[in-house]
Amino acid sequence: MAGLNERIRAFYDQSTPLWLDTWGEQMHHGYYGPDGRRKTDHKQAQLDMIEALLQWGGAPQEVGSFLDAGCGVGGSSRYLAKRYADATGLGVTLSPVQAERGRDYNRLAGVADRLRIVAKDVYTLDPATDGTYDLIWSMESAEHMADKQGLFDLFFSLLNPGGRLVMATWCHRPEPPYLSPGDQYTLQQICKLYHLPPLVSVPTLGAAAGASGFEAVQTDDWSAAVEPFWGAVIRSGLRSPQLARAGAFGGGYDAGGVGDAVHAAGVCYGGYTVRGHGCAAALGGTNFSLR
Ligand SMILES: C[S@@+](CC[C@H](N)C(=O)[O-])C[C@H]1O[C@@H](n2cnc3c(N)ncnc32)[C@H](O)[C@@H]1O
Repeated sequence: MAGLNERIRAFYDQSTPLWLDTWGEQMHHGYYGPDGRRKTDHKQAQLDMIEALLQWGGAPQEVGSFLDAGCGVGGSSRYLAKRYADATGLGVTLSPVQAERGRDYNRLAGVADRLRIVAKDVYTLDPATDGTYDLIWSMESAEHMADKQGLFDLFFSLLNPGGRLVMATWCHRPEPPYLSPGDQYTLQQICKLYHLPPLVSVPTLGAAAGASGFEAVQTDDWSAAVEPFWGAVIRSGLRSPQLARAGAFGGGYDAGGVGDAVHAAGVCYGGYTVRGHGCAAALGGTNFSLR
């Protein structure tokens, strides 16, 4: 079996063109107000998600440089480039297809001169050669990354003093009560579908951030706020068997099967804030909460 990164790369290389046709350049949940009841167009909800996370995460008013770690085609990167009009940005993705499409979007958006998107493993970034950043943005990508402690250590080293990390990632619910064998099986199926290493809980992530030197870890659960998005994605998969087959809902599974798995697991969206010695970070997450 191919290694995790190879599978992630193949998954996004294959499914991204179809996702772009159906959903566009944002590849993450939508935000529907704190209780999830706001009636919003789903694509608008994806933009609202970025803004809500920026605000909740206390993103700096002024940013000279940002890193979008696991950037997809750079939907968030361009949002940040427009918000921080003088900033330079770097987006990294494992998928060469995403990087190429991202660079096309950058040119169309007129930000190609200050926003780079490259196909690169986040774990290979080095502050000495890749620079340091005022803002690190990690939107629904850290769930693909197995070594959480190593990731926070790396992010800490890549942040400028006074900078901030804002993260949204998938987790399972806090324990205890401990995950039952049935819960664990469901989570394994979800991880298999989306090419994820085992999920961790929000408190586990928060502790890892603290161990890397970040201080004042703050977490939140946005499960309700993003809940309507799952139904919309699954319905789009039902309308597009090609999208489902391509793996946007997981290789070998149909959209209905994913829907069953997701509902069986329960879906949550969490948030976290962390501050560290002169650095600050906000971590947000999508939690699989087994209820
Ligand atoms: C669900 S997509 C989210 C994309 C983007 N953040 C967004 O919200 O539109 C997950 C992204 O994480 C990236 N990714 C996963 N593991 C990575 C790694 N080790 N290094 C760089 N990117 C990674 C994938 O290539 C993909 O672009």
